[in-house]
Amino acid sequence: MEPEYEIIDITFREDYERYMYKCLSPIPFRKYRKRSNYLRDAIPRGFRKKILIYRGEVVGQIEYAPVEVSGYPIHGSGIIVMNCIWVLRRAKGHGFGKILVENMVESEKDASGFATIGLEGHWSPWMKKWQMEKLGFKPLDYIEVKHRFRHVGECFKIYLMWLPGKKGAKLPTWGKQKMLEGVHFCIAHPLYHPQRIKDSSILEFCSL
Ligand SMILES: CC(C)(COP(=O)(O)OP(=O)(O)OC[C@H]1O[C@@H](n2cnc3c(N)ncnc32)[C@H](O)[C@@H]1OP(=O)(O)O)[C@@H](O)C(=O)NCCC(=O)NCCS
Repeated sequence: MEPEYEIIDITFREDYERYMYKCLSPIPFRKYRKRSNYLRDAIPRGFRKKILIYRGEVVGQIEYAPVEVSGYPIHGSGIIVMNCIWVLRRAKGHGFGKILVENMVESEKDASGFATIGLEGHWSPWMKKWQMEKLGFKPLDYIEVKHRFRHVGECFKIYLMWLPGKKGAKLPTWGKQKMLEGVHFCIAHPLYHPQRIKDSSILEFCSL
């Protein structure tokens, strides 16, 4: 039997605006500057956010954008970057993660391929490399870094992950130095650069 789910593109849906800011996190809905700035730039250039509703409840989401306006310093031609994907644990077992990725691939038929990042050894449970691999992404490269302000001294790896689209597509590259800034597009992201930290980077390479 088909699961009773629905995927809605909420990019232009004011009635779902809270999910553009708080995503699926149990945090209060608050429009914060970094996110507003990001959305203002990215939406007109192809950013998309979609939610998955299962039995009347929002249990999944995917967010992606063309490489030029993605949340990560990834570069390439015709590439779509998956900023984030999330399926709540209580909705596991229905294949919703893969369904969301397939929905992105289907919606972005002209993409040469799809990139994202994956973490290994980071203290949070988020954006794990192995989970991105389960969704079909393969690691291309990695950097080993540590946070300058949290869990100081703990090294972890950030992988550049790739899901090919068109045959013979040119692989993405990334700005490893720029990655040290962390990310600005989402407060719930494990590499979020809080506004209160005025230094330009929150990470440093581990060999330092
Ligand atoms: C990664 C994620 C999206 C997968 O969603 P999901 O709906 O559970 O995944 P699916 O049901 O589509 O499963 C995809 C594959 O992963 C496998 N899988 C999923 N969870 C697994 C687990 N805990 N252990 C082993 N395999 C697992 C499934 O068996 C499936 O493999 P198959 O295609 O070979 O059968 C989900 O686990 C998640 O949201 N994780 C957190 C992601 C995150 O950090 N987001 C950032 C929030 S800030």
